[in-house]
Amino acid sequence: MSNASLPGSSTMSSESSDLTFTIHTAPFRFTVSRRSTGDVLLDTSATLVFKNRYLEVTSALPAKGASLYGLGEQTKRTFRLQQNDTFTIWNEDLERSDLLDINLYSSHPFYMDVRPGGAAHGVLLLNTNGMDIKYGGSYITYKVIGGVLDFYFFAGPSPLAVVDQYTQLIGRPAPMPYWSFGFHQCRYGYKNVADLEGVVAGYAKAKIPLESIWSDIDYMDGYQDFTLDPVNYPAKLLRPFVDRLHNSSQKYVVIIDPAIKKEAAPPQNEAVGLFLQRNGTNYVGRVWPGEVYYPDFMNPRTAEYWARKISEFRRTIPADGLWCDMNEPSNFKAWEPLNEYDDSPYRINNTGIHRNLNNKTVPVSAVHFNGVSEYDAHNLYGLLESRATHDALLKDTARRPFVLSRATFVGSGRYTAHWTGDNAARWDELAHSINTILNSGLFGIPMMGADICGFNGNTTQELCSRWIQLGAFYPFARAHAEKTTVRRELYVWEPTAQSARKALGMRYRMLPYIYTLMFEAHTTGAPIARPLFFSYPQDADTYGVDRQFLAGRGAL
Ligand code: NOJ
Repeated sequence: MSNASLPGSSTMSSESSDLTFTIHTAPFRFTVSRRSTGDVLLDTSATLVFKNRYLEVTSALPAKGASLYGLGEQTKRTFRLQQNDTFTIWNEDLERSDLLDINLYSSHPFYMDVRPGGAAHGVLLLNTNGMDIKYGGSYITYKVIGGVLDFYFFAGPSPLAVVDQYTQLIGRPAPMPYWSFGFHQCRYGYKNVADLEGVVAGYAKAKIPLESIWSDIDYMDGYQDFTLDPVNYPAKLLRPFVDRLHNSSQKYVVIIDPAIKKEAAPPQNEAVGLFLQRNGTNYVGRVWPGEVYYPDFMNPRTAEYWARKISEFRRTIPADGLWCDMNEPSNFKAWEPLNEYDDSPYRINNTGIHRNLNNKTVPVSAVHFNGVSEYDAHNLYGLLESRATHDALLKDTARRPFVLSRATFVGSGRYTAHWTGDNAARWDELAHSINTILNSGLFGIPMMGADICGFNGNTTQELCSRWIQLGAFYPFARAHAEKTTVRRELYVWEPTAQSARKALGMRYRMLPYIYTLMFEAHTTGAPIARPLFFSYPQDADTYGVDRQFLAGRGAL
């Protein structure tokens, strides 16, 4: 580090870095600049507030010419940020992801900024608290309801160098198993084992490749984790079905939700500290199985409990992958009476209408291991569950785990794949999926997809045909649908089946390439699905392109 003191300011920089950090004393502010170009990347002169439970910082951006990407998770009209875009960072289950510009399941306070000429840098505010971020075109403002201003700058200067540097810090994307790059079929509402069997046969008959079939919560007994519905999914039928899948080199993935039915939790004396606490006892929420406790994945003992449950379950049903849903965490219980710890002095724009932080989740006054409050740790829940699930599978199978998680945070890519959640079977949603998938690549979670053909609402033959043509090139290619909607397996309509054979045929021919991209992602953080400017950073015409993307460096 060199530390050159000028009157009223001091600059710090490592010899090898293109970035310099300067503290100005009167008035107090700090700036981060790029040495080689003189570009100022952050300048806090406009506002800097540091209070208990309220931090605000505004940084100037060049009025013209900066193209920003990232910050999420939200469904956006465009991939490149538009002036006056706002981002609320707070993991939320809205039961739909088609509402624009609203906080969704995940939190990623990271953006990439590409300047004319192609020099890119990244900015992470490593803070788990809820926040609002406003991109004003010539400035960016953070309003954060806790923690500290822990900023990280990634000098690039190429977009690929930025994600390389970013994932060096937050963890490299997990190496995913080869089979997980095949095509996956899922549906909420598959009635029984025979229904699953029929779907697998339907794909075989239509000659559409099917790598894995999934079970949503339908397989469970009363929607309880680690159980089987004794009538529709008894072990004596499900196990031979899974064995048959394995004999034909196909895979089986099941959903698990974090919350554990009260009655199924270990006895009180063993359960101490395993679950989130409130007012000195286990907090009781409500999800599919009824009244539930929430595993506290901050406690190492909870991870052990989770691994044991997963291992026991896999002795009966050797599922190949696990799907962690509802881990914002979701809670169906109406708001608790609030105490002072259930609210923040500044109301972030939760769900687009400034709803209380407790909306549809565990009250933020709940407490984790070591006294960490849910107020501070809320956005980490999905990350910690993904880690516990990943580690449990690794231990139990000694194979590279496949985990799919709905809630993610900075660093989740190290453990899990991700999808865009409950999208809608609409044309605009087909387009929006590209933006969210490209963002996930920036966030270090390259194994990403959207429910092909759309989740909520009835899809049509034409939409589904088009969706598989796009979805066949999502890094993670899964069709999934809500249970009250029309069946939409790719063989249901012959024109869709034709599209599927062609598009998935192309994907399968490209699998060695895609698998190589996964290896690149794992070693350098490079996204699998990439914006055009990753390959053409000098070409400003690529900066706004989001109806096309690249698989790797060169396949459009
Ligand atoms: C919400 C998930 O987002 C969706 O994919 C799933 O089908 C339902 N939960 C039911 O488990």
